[in-house]
Amino acid sequence: MNKCPETTDNVEEVVLNVIRPTRRQLTILSSFFRHVKRTYEACLNRLGLKGEVTVQGSYAKGTILSDKWEIDIFIILEGVDKEWIKREGEAFLRECASRHLPYTIRYSEHPYITVSMMGLEADIVPVARPEPSRLEGLGVERTPLHTEYVRSKMDRELADQARLLKSFLRGVGVYGAEVRTRGFSGYLAELLTITYGSFRDVLRAASGWRPGVYIDPEGVGDEKVLRRRYRDSVMIVVDPVDPKRNTAAAVSVQSLATFVAAAKLYLEHPHTWFFHACQPSRPPLPGLDMYRLNVDCRGPLYNHPPDAVWGKALRALESLTNRLRRTGFKIAHHTVATDEYHTLTFSIILEECGLSSMEVVQGPYAWSPTERLTKFVLKRLSEGGGAWISIDRMIGSRPRRFKDAAEAARHWLASEESASLHDLGVSCRVVCEKCGHGECNPTPAWIASLLRGRGR
Ligand code: CTP
Ligand code: CA
Repeated sequence: MNKCPETTDNVEEVVLNVIRPTRRQLTILSSFFRHVKRTYEACLNRLGLKGEVTVQGSYAKGTILSDKWEIDIFIILEGVDKEWIKREGEAFLRECASRHLPYTIRYSEHPYITVSMMGLEADIVPVARPEPSRLEGLGVERTPLHTEYVRSKMDRELADQARLLKSFLRGVGVYGAEVRTRGFSGYLAELLTITYGSFRDVLRAASGWRPGVYIDPEGVGDEKVLRRRYRDSVMIVVDPVDPKRNTAAAVSVQSLATFVAAAKLYLEHPHTWFFHACQPSRPPLPGLDMYRLNVDCRGPLYNHPPDAVWGKALRALESLTNRLRRTGFKIAHHTVATDEYHTLTFSIILEECGLSSMEVVQGPYAWSPTERLTKFVLKRLSEGGGAWISIDRMIGSRPRRFKDAAEAARHWLASEESASLHDLGVSCRVVCEKCGHGECNPTPAWIASLLRGRGR
């Protein structure tokens, strides 16, 4: 549903009017919170536990978006430790919710439940109150400290700027630190807004980012130590609340690249289509005359936590595309989608489903040692191919192992290389076919928006 007028003037104003929550939404969320709070406070009393039921996350920070009907509730318990939470947390949550609140248990390292009522959702997370002197090694216990920090730095105006950034990140597909996205968390978006002062200024800064970008909002980090500790991170943003932690540890190179490119394009050609609430249902683009390889898998994915499903699926996707590339297929785009329940689909757009039965192999330069030339020629001839000189080097041909993309994918499925898929217990079907009319154009709306106002 697109509620945004299509415009390139006052884009941010227009978007804010759509993504800012209404007073009514905030009232409903706040009474929902009070209801859960009362239930849990009564339960804490009954069980003889001491703790505070607090609201966290974007609702508490004032950065919630209008289509989020979700709150994060943290129960900060006194006199218990992490181990207690691990051991007893789930039973405690169940006991308190049962008969009062409809809930589902979610998988996570840390126990939590999701209560859903009339379209409203609350994640309820029990944590041990951290000792102020020992913040290292904290996990979710850090959340209340994040809330406090953001609240101390943000006024209404800045919160709106953070909303724009969150909506932009979602619009271009890089919002969320989960494995599925490996992108920017809500807290990271808020930190960046605080650091640079406005949505536009974050984008201006991002236009100059490259892998290895290092940002220290409060100047509290030790760059050398952090770079060593987060050697694999493409981006380091020091957490003001916990200077040894990189808030951007989840960000993948693809997410960083997407954000940087989107920032550059938006600054030149602002458009509502960059924002999540303003995406057209389908950008008006021609289909591509290409082919699509689909690997459709089914199995009991519900046996695995969603992050594990995504992690394995993404690893499998990388392995499959590598295999196809090595075989000689030119890949335009690759994705994986899953309902995290029982279906998983890899979709790869390529130039063709079938290749010639022979492939070209590059050989040594003519000025290489004799034995390398002879070796190359003999090998090609013995394979039933040939060898010749092309400009300054030897080129040869040999029979291709797979000339059919579907066949290569089936072989991959049967091999060790697809082990991460088999861990999930799925079985898969492979099809490669020509893209249908109007299909296979992966250009996202935010890139397509550049056509607007340019004579189209
Ligand atoms: N959190 C958590 N466990 C959950 C849910 C949230 O530990 N089951 C923590 C996250 O680590 C984060 C905070 O609670 O520090 C809020 O998480 P999230 O809802 O993802 O981010 P928000 O800032 O609330 O952003 P959004 O508007 O997207 O909800
Ligand atoms: Ca939230």
